[in-house]
Amino acid sequence: MCGIVGYIGNKKAKPILINGLLRLEYRGYDSAGVATVEKNGINVVKTKGRVAALESVEAIDSLEGSIGIAHTRWATHGKPSDENSHPHTDKNKNFAVVHNGVIENYNELREFLGKNGYTFYSQTDTEVVPNLIDYYYNNDSINDDKKVLRAVVSACNDLHGSFALEIISTYLPEKMIVVRKDSPLVIGKANGENYISSDIPAILSYTKDFYLLEDLEYVVLSRDSAEFYDENLKPINKQVVNIDWNASAAEKDGYDDFMLKEIFEQPKSIRETIGSRLTQDGICSIENLELSKEYLSSLNKIYIVACGTAMHAGLAVKPLFEKLCHIQTEVDIASEFRYRDPLIDEKSLVIFISQSGETADTIAALKLSKSKGAKTLAISNVIGSSITREADYTVYTHAGPEIAVASTKAYTSQVVLMSIVAIYFAEILGIKSDLIPELKKDILALPAKVETALKTADSIKTFAKKVYTEKDVFFLGRGIDYAAVMEASLKLKEISYIHSEAYAAGELKHGTIALIEKGITVVSIMTDSSLTPKTISNLQEVITRGAKTLVVTNQDLGDKVFDNLIKIPETSPLISPILSVIPLQLFAYYISKEKGLDVDKPRNLAKSVTVE
Ligand code: M6R
Repeated sequence: MCGIVGYIGNKKAKPILINGLLRLEYRGYDSAGVATVEKNGINVVKTKGRVAALESVEAIDSLEGSIGIAHTRWATHGKPSDENSHPHTDKNKNFAVVHNGVIENYNELREFLGKNGYTFYSQTDTEVVPNLIDYYYNNDSINDDKKVLRAVVSACNDLHGSFALEIISTYLPEKMIVVRKDSPLVIGKANGENYISSDIPAILSYTKDFYLLEDLEYVVLSRDSAEFYDENLKPINKQVVNIDWNASAAEKDGYDDFMLKEIFEQPKSIRETIGSRLTQDGICSIENLELSKEYLSSLNKIYIVACGTAMHAGLAVKPLFEKLCHIQTEVDIASEFRYRDPLIDEKSLVIFISQSGETADTIAALKLSKSKGAKTLAISNVIGSSITREADYTVYTHAGPEIAVASTKAYTSQVVLMSIVAIYFAEILGIKSDLIPELKKDILALPAKVETALKTADSIKTFAKKVYTEKDVFFLGRGIDYAAVMEASLKLKEISYIHSEAYAAGELKHGTIALIEKGITVVSIMTDSSLTPKTISNLQEVITRGAKTLVVTNQDLGDKVFDNLIKIPETSPLISPILSVIPLQLFAYYISKEKGLDVDKPRNLAKSVTVE
């Protein structure tokens, strides 16, 4: 969950590293640090706090080297402090390391190293790494040019858990070694220089040519080369992959925050997601997803497994898969799925949704599903991400880089893509349904309708100003609207720190209504005419008890009186979350702004959750 950046070239490393860290802060922002190779050895500058705090540490001005590693931290082991910040070194500063991931057996390793004369100065799991490398280096009697690499490989062989590591050493002052296992790391190749990062967008302005690393591939980088080795130090041949993301897509482009920019980008991102997968003539096809009628007919279950917002996207499309494909579909939280011994076999198709493609629980759930014989399909936004390399099939959302921690455009693109996948499966299965042509038309009309839904921003902002001091907000919905309010509620709590809960409206009377009192805010979505009268009754019940109400709907609700009624364009209820969530993304955004919070980097959170 931490951000890693590195540089080896002919320019001064410090500004490149700081620039990269600023772009990576969404991955974690408890502390930050850099280490460069200088004439007098390795210099480390690190501090608790954000990258801005690091920039104001006096010692940073002395860094002149053109090889360096840097880190922005999301604390797992040891509180945010100067000592716990990365980079970490061995006592003699012969090795400096930044790390993303978790070393699960760090206690045993500390004990072992302690017995061998090593001392630790932080509470982190990471500090064992430079010390272990130093231990192996000192215990290797062969003095050749692979000695540091051998020490790194031996150390990594002892590590349990996940890691992406950048290592510099005084013994190899013109090189850098990097390796990953279950934690993201890419290398950007440019002319006479190499850039390293945990995320592609952070270095996209320097190059579009990337090496995507597999687990336990060791890379020895110099300014103009990258040598790849396996665990036995056998050379590996690696191809460069060109990533065609536009570098400006990772900039704020005049918006105050990435989140607002990403909310307003949705007409475009949805258009990109649809791409040529659904043509104006209604032809539906999905690249790299050749599943036969025999296979799809043999399925007795589809699982959709994901975390957070991506899981909510799964909930939004579950009814579509069941209605169109006639296959029972279950949505699971990845962290539960992986430990609940789910009934999976070769008759199950397991679909994993992950914007980053790096979420630890989702990847673990994928590995489990494969081991039980199921076919796996990854829906991801990040080309070459870990999940896409594990899954049998991958389809990309093509929403463009999402930087804000709160996911917005990735969610709508996930729902759009999964809706097209459901149609595609139904057509392969030969299922005839009047719903299909209607849905195709509605999907193609989405970019324009999202544009209209975004016009609700001003009235949402006005309502947000009235309620931003609230302590609790309740969200109610039925059917598909319940799936949508779950996402709306998550959005609000994660960036405004207001306690909010989403309930199936019919559940209200079974307990929650006890919490409703005068002045409390209740938000509801109503997009399914068959359920609207029921939800209206539930809202009447909270209004009677003094609640303030915000309703998002595409229906004519007659003379019903709500404090704020937000009209969105009509569409098939089966895909309505793509539109109904938009005003509520804005609601969360404006409340957070009113409270003066950091919208893009909410407290305690990180963009991708690469640890369990
Ligand atoms: O990268 P992923 O889609 O796998 O991430 C899953 C969740 O961590 C993510 O959706 C999280 O819930 C968002 N911050 C919500 O806005």
